[in-house]
Amino acid sequence: MNDRRRFLKLGALGTAAFAVGCAGTEAAREEATDQAPAAGPGGPVVLSTWDHGMAANAKAWEVLQAGGSVLDAVEQGVAVVESDLTNRSVGLGGMPDRDGFVTLDACIQDHDGRAGAVAFLQDIEHPISVARAIMERTPHVMLVGDGAQQWALANGFTKREVDLPEVRAAYAEWLKKAEYRPVANIENHDTIGLVAVDTGGRLAGSCTTSGMAYKVHGRVGDSPIIGAGLFVDGDVGAACATGTGELVIRVAGSHTVVELMRQGVEPEEACRQAVKRILAKHPGLKDHQVGFLALRKDGLHGACAVVDGFSYALHTREGNKLHKAAFLS
Ligand code: GLY
Repeated sequence: MNDRRRFLKLGALGTAAFAVGCAGTEAAREEATDQAPAAGPGGPVVLSTWDHGMAANAKAWEVLQAGGSVLDAVEQGVAVVESDLTNRSVGLGGMPDRDGFVTLDACIQDHDGRAGAVAFLQDIEHPISVARAIMERTPHVMLVGDGAQQWALANGFTKREVDLPEVRAAYAEWLKKAEYRPVANIENHDTIGLVAVDTGGRLAGSCTTSGMAYKVHGRVGDSPIIGAGLFVDGDVGAACATGTGELVIRVAGSHTVVELMRQGVEPEEACRQAVKRILAKHPGLKDHQVGFLALRKDGLHGACAVVDGFSYALHTREGNKLHKAAFLS
C-alpha cells in the first residue's frame, strides 16, 4: 500500500472510530470513510515557528534540495538559529535563568518515531545535535543537566562559553526587582520548532530553546519533551509548539494535534482544538502565548495560537514566506 493510500486509510479509520463511538451505526462508519481528508500539496514542505523560522527553513530546504535526509534538514535548519547570538530565546545567546545561567532544551524525532532530547544543558552551541546524538548513540531518549553535558563532551561536542554584555546588562536590571512576569510574544520570538516532510512523505521535526527568561534554575519547558513541544508520527504528520511551556505540557500539546489529525481532523483545526483545550483550562488567558504548527504527511499544514502575534514560516515549492497564525483569545 503506498503512503498516500495508507494515510487515507488511517485517517478514515480514525474518523470512523470516532463516528462509531458517537453514532454506533454502520451507516455512520461508511459516511465517515467517505469523508477522508482532501489531499495536501505533497512535499517537500518545511514549517517553523516565528520570524526566525525563515532562516531555519532556508537551510532545511537547502539540505533537502542537496539530497540530504529530512532528519538532516530539521537538525541543520534549527542549528542556524541556535548559532545566532542575537537571538534571545534560542541557543547560547538566550536569556539566563534567575540565577544567571543560560540553560538549553531541545529534542528531535524522525519518521519512525525514534526520538532524542536534552534538557537543562549549558555551554554547548547545538543542543539539537546533542539530542540527535542521544537518539542515535544511546539506548535512551533524554539526558539532562551535568550528565547531558558530560555525555556530550565525551561524544565529540565542545564547550562554548558565551558572555554577551547586552544580556548581562538586562539580567542586572532584572535583578533589581527579580520579579517573574510572563510576557506574551516576548520580543516576538521564542522556541524554534520546525517540522518537515520530503517528497517521499517522510517526516521529521526538531525543537530547541533557551526557555523562559529568568525561569527558576532547573526549570525545563515543553521544548525537549516529546509529545509536548514536538511530536512526529510517520503515518500521520508532525506538530510543534511554542510559547509558555507549562501550558503546552499540561495538554500534551503536539501529541494532541497529531492524534487529532490521525482521526481525520485537518491540520489547522487540529491546532485550534489544542488551543481550545488550553483555553478550557485557563479561560480568558491573555498574558501568555502558545502557538501550534501542524504538518500532515501529504503536505497540508495549519497553525493556531492563543493570542495575536504568532508568526510562522512556511517553505514550499512556491518559496519561503512568513505568515500570521489565527488566534482564539
Ligand atoms: N516553549 C519554551 C519554553 O517554555 O521553555
